Amino acid sequence: MRRLVSACLLFFAIPTLAQSSSSLAARRAAHLRHGINLSEWFAQVYDPKGYTKEHLVGWVTPDDIALIKSAGFDHVRLSVNPEPMMRHNMADHLPPEYLGYLDGAVKMILDHGLAVIIDMHPESEFKAKLVQHDDFVEQFSDFWRAIAQHYSSYDPEMVYFEILNEPEFRDRYRWAGVQGKLAAAIREGAPQHTIIAAGANWSDVEDLLVLTPLPDANVIYNFHFYDPHTFTHQGATWGTNYWHFESKLAYPASLEAARKVAAQEPDAFNRLQVLRYGLDHWDGNRIGVEIGQAAEWGKHWNVPLTCNEFGVYRRASDPQDRARWIHDVRTTLEGYGIGWNMWDFGARDNGMGFGVVNGSKEGPNTADEVTVQALGLKR
Ligand code: BGC
Repeated sequence: MRRLVSACLLFFAIPTLAQSSSSLAARRAAHLRHGINLSEWFAQVYDPKGYTKEHLVGWVTPDDIALIKSAGFDHVRLSVNPEPMMRHNMADHLPPEYLGYLDGAVKMILDHGLAVIIDMHPESEFKAKLVQHDDFVEQFSDFWRAIAQHYSSYDPEMVYFEILNEPEFRDRYRWAGVQGKLAAAIREGAPQHTIIAAGANWSDVEDLLVLTPLPDANVIYNFHFYDPHTFTHQGATWGTNYWHFESKLAYPASLEAARKVAAQEPDAFNRLQVLRYGLDHWDGNRIGVEIGQAAEWGKHWNVPLTCNEFGVYRRASDPQDRARWIHDVRTTLEGYGIGWNMWDFGARDNGMGFGVVNGSKEGPNTADEVTVQALGLKR
C-alpha cells in the first residue's frame, strides 16, 4: 500500500514539478525580450595580438553599456571564446586573472540593470573537436561545470548560460547527446540558473524542429534567423563565396530587382541562386510562416523560445531594405511572444558590421537611428 501511495505521489508530483519549472523558464525568458549581441570582446578577436588585457578591459566601455540601456534593450548576449581559459586536461581549473576580466565585464553589464547571457562562442576548429572526440566533450563539460559554479552565486534572474553558439554538428543526433552532457554539467555547477539550448548546425529553425527538449525544465530554446542568407549576408566575405559579389539586393524580394544583382555574379550557378531569391516570395508573410514553425515547436513541447541572433550585414545592403527585414523579423517574433537579440552591437573595424551603432576606433559609438527604429526602440 505504502508503495502504491508513493507511486501515486510520484505520478502526480512529476508533471506538477515539470510544469512549475517550465513556467520558471518562461518567467526567466521574460527578462530576455529585447537584446543585443556583444561580439569581438571575449570572442572573435582576430587582432594578431589576441585576447590581451588592454583589449579585454577596453573594447566595450561603460558608455557603450549605458547606450545599450538607454536605447531600451533589456539584455545582452556576451560571446565568450572558451579557448583562452581552457587548460588541457585541467579544464576545471579556470585561470583567475582572465576570469577576473570576464567578471569585470559581467559586473559592468549587470550594474547597468541589463541581464546577460554568457554565450559559449568558440571558433569552428574547437567545435570540430567536439564533433570528433568524446574526450574533448568531457573536458568541455568540466570547463562548463566550473564556469557555471563560478557564476552560480550571481542572480539567476539576470545571468543565463548558453551551452554553445551554432554547434556546427552535421549529425543532429550526436549533437543531442553532447548537448545533454553539457547541460547536465552546467546544472551540476549552477542548480538555479536557466540554460539556453539550441539545435545542431547553425541553429536555424530547421535545426530546432528536429530537437527533442532536454530532461531539464529550466531551459529556454534558441534559434537563429538569417533567412535568406542571399539577402542578409550580401557583401559578406565569409560563409558562401558568391555573397561578396552581391550589393543592394532589395527586400521584399522581386524578380526585377534580383535580375540586376544576379548580373553582378560572374558564375552562372550563382546567378541562378540570386534569381531564385527574387522568386521565393521573401516578405513579411514568408518570414511569418518560417518563424511560425519554430513557435509551433515551442507550443508543442510547452517550452519558451528565444531568437538570439538575427540581422543584416551593413556593408553592401541598402539601409532601408535592411531596416524592412529587421522590422519584419522583429515584429513577427514579438507577435509570437518570442524574445529577440539582434546581431550585433557593432564592429569597430569599419564602424558597421551588422551593428546597431555607428562607430570608429577613435570616437564614441552612437546609435544608428534607422536600425533603432526598425527594432522599435527609443530614438
Ligand atoms: C558568427 C559571426 C557572424 C554572424 C553572422 C555569428 O554566429 O559567430 O562570426 O558574423 O554569425 O554571420
